[in-house]
Amino acid sequence: MLKIGVMASGGGSNFKAIIDHIGEGDLEAQCKFLITNNGTCGAVAHAQEYGIPVYHISGKTHPVVAEYEAALLDVIDRYDIDLLILAGYMKALPVSIVRRLPDRILNIHPSLLPKFGGKGFWGIHVHEAVIAAHEKESGPTVHLVSEEIDKGRILAQVKVPVLEDDTPEVLAARVLVQEHNLYWKTIRDYAAQL
Ligand code: GAR
Repeated sequence: MLKIGVMASGGGSNFKAIIDHIGEGDLEAQCKFLITNNGTCGAVAHAQEYGIPVYHISGKTHPVVAEYEAALLDVIDRYDIDLLILAGYMKALPVSIVRRLPDRILNIHPSLLPKFGGKGFWGIHVHEAVIAAHEKESGPTVHLVSEEIDKGRILAQVKVPVLEDDTPEVLAARVLVQEHNLYWKTIRDYAAQL
């Protein structure tokens, strides 16, 4: 059985979609933990609802960088996971974590990478930039996490149209629907070839 751990910072709708698909039997996996840098975010509520252990590890709980990284590694090593899934985790992952799990960390990003990725491109800012650039299409990308932000191998993408009168919020919602469909399938397909 595939063992995953999830990291999330926000509403947690991607996290919820993944655990719902596990619950429905679409994705044969166990979610071992949620790590968050925001102890009051929606993802925490979802984890509690499903009885998934939550670890709040952030600059607030661990102000010393080395201790912050050690706390992350401690959880990750404790559970012997096959894949670490970033589901709306809004902090760059320390290089020590990326090196601990080479080709075993997946991220979802709300643009068609390599466009609109890298430092500063996260959440609603991505959709603002897509609209400002008058792009005709956008959509989510699932990729492997490498040491450079948003530069790892692309595993899957889905295109959605960008419409004339889109606001960043309207576009974000259209992309998010596709994220929920794409992420669990990509996890399933990637895990199948490990
Ligand atoms: C999603 O759109 C995800 O692609 C994006 O944050 C949102 C999280 O939503 N991630 C990034 O921007 C990472 N660079 P959620 O908390 O409802 O899953």
